Amino acid sequence: MNAKQAAGYRAAQLIKEGMTVGLGTGSTAFYAIEKIGEMVANGLSIRAIATSRASEELAEKYNIPLVAAADVDRLDIAIDGADEFDPEMALIKGGGGALLREKLVAVQSDRFVVIADSGKRVAHLGQFKLPIEIVPFCYEWTLRLLRSRYNVAIEMRMNGNELYVTDNGNYIADAAFGKIESPGKLSDELKATTGVVEHGLFVDIAQMVIVGYDDGRTEVIEK
Ligand code: 5RP
Repeated sequence: MNAKQAAGYRAAQLIKEGMTVGLGTGSTAFYAIEKIGEMVANGLSIRAIATSRASEELAEKYNIPLVAAADVDRLDIAIDGADEFDPEMALIKGGGGALLREKLVAVQSDRFVVIADSGKRVAHLGQFKLPIEIVPFCYEWTLRLLRSRYNVAIEMRMNGNELYVTDNGNYIADAAFGKIESPGKLSDELKATTGVVEHGLFVDIAQMVIVGYDDGRTEVIEK
């Protein structure tokens, strides 16, 4: 068992009969979805919302019943990966481009559980480039504004020779902050920027991080 698998499988144990579950995106969330699929095959009855088309397809493959947002008030739990987490459980997410749906689902959940291999633990966020989802219309202006405001390298995410397009039809700019001194302040600033739809800083959203290690151990960190 590898570290991501250990974390994903451990998180699946939190799922109980009748729950409404948010399914994350990425290679760690894959293992949680795989295990939940196994539990459903063994008779567990739940309903789920996926945070990306890829995870939706995975849920369908494992016969995990998906439900429309209109039929859900709150989710009991959401389980998702992260690109970095700090000692306050602030996160950088969006390496896989699903940050907007991931944040929508996370904030709508009673419990947001992060699953990560131990390499994602950092003292300060920012070594991983911060994904910023921006609208395609006049995206050059938004990019220019962000570059001049923060004076750090910010590059448009590419998909081959084309600009990368999210499941929501937007673009992503990846910002190399290096060290983010105040994730809360940066989060608020970005959120208030015209042209920015969402960003990958998740501050005060996670209540638990399940860290997986290469030897199959897991560590549970709770707020
Ligand atoms: C996708 C994400 C992922 O959760 C994050 O990139 C971690 O991915 P992985 O589990 O593959 O390392 O935010 O948008």
